[in-house]
Amino acid sequence: MNFERLDKIVSNNFGVTRKIARNDIKQGKVSVDGRVVTDFSAKIAENIPVNYNGQECGNTKFTYIMMNKPKGVLTATRDDSRETVLDLVPEDIKRKGLFPVGRLDKDTTGLLIITNDGDFAHRIVSPRHHVAKVYTVTLDGTVTDDAVKGFLEGVTLADGELCAPAILEKTDKENVARVTLREGKYHQIKRMFGVFSLGVNDLTRNSIGDLVLDPTLREGECRVMTQEEIKKAEEK
Ligand code: URA
Repeated sequence: MNFERLDKIVSNNFGVTRKIARNDIKQGKVSVDGRVVTDFSAKIAENIPVNYNGQECGNTKFTYIMMNKPKGVLTATRDDSRETVLDLVPEDIKRKGLFPVGRLDKDTTGLLIITNDGDFAHRIVSPRHHVAKVYTVTLDGTVTDDAVKGFLEGVTLADGELCAPAILEKTDKENVARVTLREGKYHQIKRMFGVFSLGVNDLTRNSIGDLVLDPTLREGECRVMTQEEIKKAEEK
């Protein structure tokens, strides 16, 4: 079992200095597993929820952030001239080494995880781990049965690259569909629909594993994820 000092957990997870963390703990602003703890040197076991300013984290040296990515922002850590998703992370939760887990196109919106945990990111994006990502797609035409069948069989893209079987579901709007992928190739959904002569007008990601985008997060907003949410993201 991994134990960590409370002041270190607070400062690591919420981007405040150790001094501020100690003061806030002494003032009763931090609770551990639902109870206020004022001893900043208390050793906290792994995965015990720690709450600070209404946000929850556990004893982990890593940070996990859920973002509702807006249109027009690059999924990258930095760019010389264009705004990136890291530019949208508030200073109080920003930490060194954060990067986006996988990539959403510049014009795609929705759920994006930002972390500094490389192993976690690998488990989420690697096709070998089969974590499902669900998207809502607005098309410039009607979803056909042909496309539904083709997605299930595995689409061969225009350049010959083969996609793993994916689920394409119709909705009550004829030009809106739900797509479930377990891999993440470059522009994958746009290229898959292109094979069926359908263009994508709008694309948003709703979930990763069992983790659903928090509906209270407006586009461009983000927050630290709870322990439960971190686990949910890896569920298959
Ligand atoms: N597929 C795409 O084409 N774009 C995305 O942003 C995500 C999946």
